[in-house]
Amino acid sequence: MIRNFVKTFKIYRFNPEIHSKPYYDTFKVDMSRCGPMVLDALIKIKKELDSTLTFRRSCREGICGSCAMNIDGVNTLACLSKIDNNTKEININPLPHMYVVKDLVPDMTNFYQQDKSIKPWLIQNNENKPNNGKENIQSIKDRSELGTMDKCILCACCSTAFPSYWWNSDKYLGPAALMQANRWVKDTRDDATKERLSVLRDPFSLYRCHTIMNCTKTCPKGLNPGKAVAELKLKIAQTEFDS
Ligand code: SF4
Ligand code: FES
Repeated sequence: MIRNFVKTFKIYRFNPEIHSKPYYDTFKVDMSRCGPMVLDALIKIKKELDSTLTFRRSCREGICGSCAMNIDGVNTLACLSKIDNNTKEININPLPHMYVVKDLVPDMTNFYQQDKSIKPWLIQNNENKPNNGKENIQSIKDRSELGTMDKCILCACCSTAFPSYWWNSDKYLGPAALMQANRWVKDTRDDATKERLSVLRDPFSLYRCHTIMNCTKTCPKGLNPGKAVAELKLKIAQTEFDS
């Protein structure tokens, strides 16, 4: 289908090495010569109009999570965001309340550190590890308990859609990391369930979540981190701790 219209993109720009303040740039793109997604337009703008425009991207198909940004007020993936067939302007910002490295590139250091802090790997006692490097088998039923939690691509759309994360991102882990915590808590092969839950019992790490469900609403992969966080809270309430 030929898309015979011109689309205007209003894009957040900031290069801390050059500018003291962020500003917006406006670009007009002939859609008859552009792919259908917002990422296609960004690539075209960078290639043909302003090579300094900076954004992350890799897979172009919703797998790597690197093109996460705020498009018309919604945190999402630029490569999965279709450009509507009309002349309405599209506003593009970096993920909200993150430090900006440049233009649409947020600093993900804290976000990745939070994911690392929940130890997103299998922890097993030696006696439960399979011998001779054999497969660490899980029953079909036990695997089904994990649902789609392992499909998270760590794009950070969910965490950065949440006011508690904006105000307390140094102490509140955010829905993405908490969903991974729940993924390992629910893994029947894991022997560190109590330790995993115990470290979440302070007032901030988990309990800054107030179940407003922005995270689930915005997840571009259709996952449900809000449910995972609620399951964690329930599991903690059902667990007896030594102190
Ligand atoms: Fe992205 Fe969804 Fe994972 Fe959050 S849960 S990081 S929105 S894929
Ligand atoms: Fe990989 Fe968009 S480029 S998710």
